[in-house]
Amino acid sequence: MVVVLLLRAVGLGALLQLHAGLGAPSTPQRSFEIDYDRDCFLKDGEPFRYISGSIHYSRVPRYYWKDRLMKMKMAGLDAIQTYVPWNYHESEPGVYNFSGDRDLEYFLQLANEVGLLVILKAGPYICAEWDMGGLPAWLLKKESIVLRSSDLDYLAAVEKWMGVLLPKMKPHLYKNEGPIITVQVENEYGSYFACDYDYLRYLQKLFRHHLGDDVVLFTTDGASSLYLRCGALQGLYSTVDFGPGGNVTAAFLTQRNSEPKGPLVNSEFYTGWLDHWGRRHSVVPTNAITKTLSEMLARGASVNMYMFIGGTNFGYWNGANMPYLPQPTSYDYDAPLTEAGDLTEKYFALREVIGMYKAIPEGPIPPTTPKFAYGEVALKKVGTVLELLGELSPSGSIKSTYPLTFVQLEQFFGFVLYRTTLPKNCTEKTPLLSPLNGVHDRAYVSVDGVPQGVLERGRLLQINITGKAGAHLELLVENMGRVNYGRFNNDFKGLVSNLTLGQDILTDWEMYPLDIESAVGSGLTSNDELKDPTCNPSNCTGPAFYICKLSIPSGIPDLPQDTYIKFPGWTKGQIWINGFNLGRYWPVRGPQVTLYVPSNILVTSSPNNITVLELEQSPCGVQKCTIEFVDKPEINETLLYESNPPKLFTRDSWPDHI
Ligand SMILES: *[C@@H]1O[C@H](CO)[C@@H](O)[C@H](O)[C@H]1NC(C)=O
Ligand SMILES: *[C@@H]1O[C@H](CO)[C@@H](O)[C@H](O)[C@H]1NC(C)=O
Ligand SMILES: *[C@@H]1O[C@H](CO)[C@@H](O)[C@H](O)[C@H]1NC(C)=O
Ligand SMILES: *[C@@H]1O[C@H](CO)[C@@H](O)[C@H](O)[C@H]1NC(C)=O
Ligand SMILES: *[C@@H]1O[C@H](CO)[C@@H](O)[C@H](O)[C@H]1NC(C)=O
Ligand SMILES: *[C@@H]1O[C@H](CO)[C@@H](O)[C@H](O)[C@H]1NC(C)=O
Ligand SMILES: *[C@@H]1O[C@H](CO)[C@@H](O)[C@H](O)[C@H]1NC(C)=O
Ligand SMILES: *[C@@H]1O[C@H](CO)[C@@H](O)[C@H](O)[C@H]1NC(C)=O
Repeated sequence: MVVVLLLRAVGLGALLQLHAGLGAPSTPQRSFEIDYDRDCFLKDGEPFRYISGSIHYSRVPRYYWKDRLMKMKMAGLDAIQTYVPWNYHESEPGVYNFSGDRDLEYFLQLANEVGLLVILKAGPYICAEWDMGGLPAWLLKKESIVLRSSDLDYLAAVEKWMGVLLPKMKPHLYKNEGPIITVQVENEYGSYFACDYDYLRYLQKLFRHHLGDDVVLFTTDGASSLYLRCGALQGLYSTVDFGPGGNVTAAFLTQRNSEPKGPLVNSEFYTGWLDHWGRRHSVVPTNAITKTLSEMLARGASVNMYMFIGGTNFGYWNGANMPYLPQPTSYDYDAPLTEAGDLTEKYFALREVIGMYKAIPEGPIPPTTPKFAYGEVALKKVGTVLELLGELSPSGSIKSTYPLTFVQLEQFFGFVLYRTTLPKNCTEKTPLLSPLNGVHDRAYVSVDGVPQGVLERGRLLQINITGKAGAHLELLVENMGRVNYGRFNNDFKGLVSNLTLGQDILTDWEMYPLDIESAVGSGLTSNDELKDPTCNPSNCTGPAFYICKLSIPSGIPDLPQDTYIKFPGWTKGQIWINGFNLGRYWPVRGPQVTLYVPSNILVTSSPNNITVLELEQSPCGVQKCTIEFVDKPEINETLLYESNPPKLFTRDSWPDHI
């Protein structure tokens, strides 16, 4: 079998070389299909294999799309692969956004102009270390919904969404002069517990209905018969994914079990790996990647490198794994292009390997963009979340005997303030408990405005508090990102079960959904005359807003440039620049210490408004009350590294698998 495969690969290599020299044949109509006889793709009737790289448009500012695509083109790639995150485009049922950074069609058009083909992973589920694997949280309004199955309410929502997305994609198909050569249905479905063939069949019909019978639809699963069992479906071409270092022959043999004929495809060849807060930064050595890539290319396989550029989880878009561990803001992934699009040694090494199998385009590679250290900027405290509650929650509170979840409150991201009163005198330390691990995901607890500590999902389920009967007990609850993988996708946020004080269940809650984006955009930063710029240690703990202005120096050419923010002495929070939500910082947990700031969100004509929501403890009043703009990223400094962390559930250790 091995010999046969190798011979076949040599045959294909020769074919590819032959056709490379002939130039584009004058075909009347563009076509992209599978040649089952010659085990390859056919592009305009000619044998074809692709070398591709993943870039997620949702993780790169639109301003930089062309730069990153050009760099990918100049590495010798034929194609790019991207996911479509459903929740990025349909934030509420029937409310769609395809503009600005979410302008998928413009992204496809740019790829086409740059000369890159596109492999579209259209979902509905994408995994991708993206909040809830791309599924909109509003699906959870039906609490018992079985996501990624034939659940009728789920299918109704999918049908409506695909009825918007796929008709937009149709003009961008290869046959219609666009760049899209293949479309992936679902994602690694064989790793999901439901194993619902009717669901895959339903998607197949839906995709065919919108895109036509002549489009190559495919699935991707882990390279093991275990995953292909539930992930593969007749009529959808089965491909596999695997990283460097393994046995390429064995991996492709698992694809051959599903697809005895047709092109060999590794849809996700891992160039690096993802990170989690509190774990070591993942690094994958270049030589391991070049070796396996070369092996795959030598046998004529089509390969997509995941990621070619990882980018950034701006805002609240990161996902999480179980046992609950959220991913950080940076999605650098140790990919050949860094989070900021910088060229790396890995980039040039991969380009060299690719150059052994095809001609690399001539011409200059767009250079790494310069970074600028704007230096330290002093912040001032605006007020605590409680002091600013009127501005942050203009709609006021919702009352309920028992706590409601974010979804029940129609708040999908960010923060909700939960308030009740102490039912009894707690003169002695009294345990405040989350017996069912129901704080999703982190609560900043105070009594009458005095911080008492933090509860954290899976980690800190109990703190002691003191206070008088009738005092306000407040928990600012943070959604740190929904689980993106596996059966825990139905990830409700907020207080998802009762809290107890001593033996008693706490009741009579008032819940304030916080609209921080609006407050930051309109109110908080405009307050130039601050009450008091200083704070002492006692009033610089607990959730509070701080602001500052960054002026871009004049007289230096080519500013603004990209930069990174460092948070010396700060603990955990969220930061906005000119209203753009850059993401979460958590330097005390790491491994990410600096946040990437793309230059396009900075202005030179006026000072830039910076808003920081520090959730625990700022350095103000103790040390310098500053953040610092530096020109180098630090994403590999796990400070509180857990020496014996719980093992994550992976595809291979899923507790309920089969
Ligand atoms: C749509 O998304 C873009 C890019 O994130 C954003 O700038 C814009 O405000 C959004 N539009 C609406 C109506 O929310
Ligand atoms: C790789 O897998 C193939 C097929 O299972 C097997 O024949 C071969 O011995 C393996 N090679 C190595 C180096 O393990
Ligand atoms: C709490 O203690 C105060 C005295 O410090 C007392 O007046 C009050 O009745 C107590 N309340 C309850 C509910 O026990
Ligand atoms: C709470 O207080 C009790 C009694 O002082 C102590 O034994 C316990 O360790 C404390 N628990 C926490 C989580 O601090
Ligand atoms: C809280 O406890 C009450 C009484 O036992 C129960 O009816 C309710 O469902 C619980 N709420 C949550 C969110 O667990
Ligand atoms: C900064 O905030 C001020 C006051 O709200 C506003 O006038 C100005 O336009 C903002 N600057 C930028 C760059 O958004
Ligand atoms: C913080 O506390 C100090 C000293 O108690 C006080 O002077 C100052 O006004 C407080 N600052 C704020 C912002 O509340
Ligand atoms: C992080 O990476 C930098 C640059 O590669 C290196 O100097 C530093 O030692 C690394 N830190 C850790 C903790 O690995």
